Amino acid sequence: MGVILDGKACATKIKEELKNQIAELYIKPHLVVITTTDDEASKVYVRNKKRACEYVGMGFTNLEFKSEPQSHIEEALNRLNNAKGVSGVIIQLPLRKGLDECKLLSCIDPQKDVDNFHPLNLGLLMRGMTSFSPCTPKGIMRLLDTYGIGLEGKLCVIIGRSNIVGKPLVMELLKRNATPVICHSHTKNLKDLTKQADIVISATGQAKMITSEYIKEGAVLVDVGISRDSDGKLCGDIDPSCYEKSSYYTPVPNGVGQMTVAMLLVNCYEAYRMGELIHE
Ligand code: GUN
Repeated sequence: MGVILDGKACATKIKEELKNQIAELYIKPHLVVITTTDDEASKVYVRNKKRACEYVGMGFTNLEFKSEPQSHIEEALNRLNNAKGVSGVIIQLPLRKGLDECKLLSCIDPQKDVDNFHPLNLGLLMRGMTSFSPCTPKGIMRLLDTYGIGLEGKLCVIIGRSNIVGKPLVMELLKRNATPVICHSHTKNLKDLTKQADIVISATGQAKMITSEYIKEGAVLVDVGISRDSDGKLCGDIDPSCYEKSSYYTPVPNGVGQMTVAMLLVNCYEAYRMGELIHE
């Protein structure tokens, strides 16, 4: 049976450190989250972000734009960019239909872009020189490092090519001399690839699609998916029957998701510190 990569414990430690650092500050960092839908999953994510901010003593505001046109959201982003008290701004994805994601993300001041989704920041990531890093890949790297899992020369098979997880994760892994391979819904013989992997990272949102025949003995399993099984229970992309074959695995819940939120707080605190330097 593999060792659990305890995202909850690791995230709690990070949040405790942040809480102590923020307690020393007179003016606190502040995160603004823009939402555009009533989607249940997004509501849960935003609620978790709010709770985490409150826990560490960071300010939090959720601005909702459920029916306003794109131009109103762009104007709001402009105001937030110029607001001294706002350290970080994120737009919860996916957006409601009819909004231009790339254009909206481009409106965020890159120095307040704590999700690291601005095209400029994504471009910098390609050169290995971002100020922030997308939260889920950063959280995965932090978790693997915490457990001393080496990456150099490792074959890492990522399932899912999203802008949020799969693509930036390739850059993080390359920085660490791993060999990332990215797979997606059109990949032929997925199983033949995953079976060779030292590390399998799945981010498809397909409940329990990775079963034990996809995994080699001793592989590290990282599960980014979060969905519900036929009994309505929370589950990931990786079927728990795989854990026995693994050397390490992330549970769902309390794995990668917790790390993502912790990294958002870390990025927001860094944005605050950078802002302080600029205004000094
Ligand atoms: N939707 C799913 N994950 C994320 C995330 O990390 N950030 C934002 N903004 N939206 C998301």
